[in-house]
Amino acid sequence: MPDRILVVDDEEAIREIVCAILGAAGYICKQAGSGIEALALLNSGETFELMLSDLMMAELDGIGLLERTKEKFPEMPVVMVTAVHDISVALAAIRNGAYDYLLKPFEREQLLNAARRALENRRLKIENRIYQTELESLVKARTLELQAAVAELKRSYDITLEALGDALDLKDAETVGHSRRVTAFTILIARAMGIASDQIDVIARGAFLHDIGKMAIPDNILLKPGKLNEEERAIMREHCYRGYQMLKKIPFLAEACEIVYSHQEHFDGSGYPRGLRGEEIPIGARIFSVADTLDAIISDRPYRMGRSLAEARKEILAWSGRQFDPEVVKVFMNIPDQIFEDLRREINGHSLPPFPATAIAKSAS
Ligand SMILES: [Fe+2]
Repeated sequence: MPDRILVVDDEEAIREIVCAILGAAGYICKQAGSGIEALALLNSGETFELMLSDLMMAELDGIGLLERTKEKFPEMPVVMVTAVHDISVALAAIRNGAYDYLLKPFEREQLLNAARRALENRRLKIENRIYQTELESLVKARTLELQAAVAELKRSYDITLEALGDALDLKDAETVGHSRRVTAFTILIARAMGIASDQIDVIARGAFLHDIGKMAIPDNILLKPGKLNEEERAIMREHCYRGYQMLKKIPFLAEACEIVYSHQEHFDGSGYPRGLRGEEIPIGARIFSVADTLDAIISDRPYRMGRSLAEARKEILAWSGRQFDPEVVKVFMNIPDQIFEDLRREINGHSLPPFPATAIAKSAS
């Protein structure tokens, strides 16, 4: 497609010459005898790759025409044609957005060069804009791909965690489903405490894997039916640190392992392994502690039936400020029974995975 050029001049003779030269060079020209006429042509929807405009015209002059077209047709360069005596006005036109100016009288070559330069500049500008747009959408697409890959990676991590936690539950048949229920209760309380969702994810992983260190405890101690003696109890208590050591090497669990390390601490400092107290204990571990006790009380064991939620609440309240953080207990006490019941039923029916935390949160709300 040859480029179309709009030639605006109030002298017909000049228009004819200019169009003859441009036409011979392969351009398609259209003439306008005034600024007003040019404006009407442009506004009618006809498009031009270039406008050559006389500067001095009655009614609407070159500057006025430029002023009224540059915003609507930003990609159409304007070359001003002017007589020597108004060169300063031509420069002003350039400052106003004209691409170039041509001094009258001009040679054929000067006219063609000016047209070529302006059209080339326009082409480069458009190419650059297309390149920018393509680049932006390319970056956008790549970012989305990357985000999806990261989400997928997180998901596979979580599936691995599930398997790990379930492996422990399988070994210690007495507490089947314990990790899942405790995780769900922990998430529920954490949500009620207004903890941010990315932090809840960390807390959930810590809660789910809290006893993972028990993998390192010999079966004759871990599965011993009777009471543990002093020495056995000491070995059993190592499970917090063992779990912490296992998980801290995994960057994805760097924060969650702190909860594993601290999950047996008591608010008043009487817990183990470090005897942390109050806010020295990570908030996730303080929440876990309530959730863990709750599950232990209400779940059936081979040698006894689970007790009621009301009894669990009474017990937890009695230990508020000693074993448990009073703030956590307060929030826990305000969560309706129904939510705990529903959650427990769903998890025992195995329809609810422990991850992601949002699934549990959704089901509880
Ligand atoms: Fe434990």
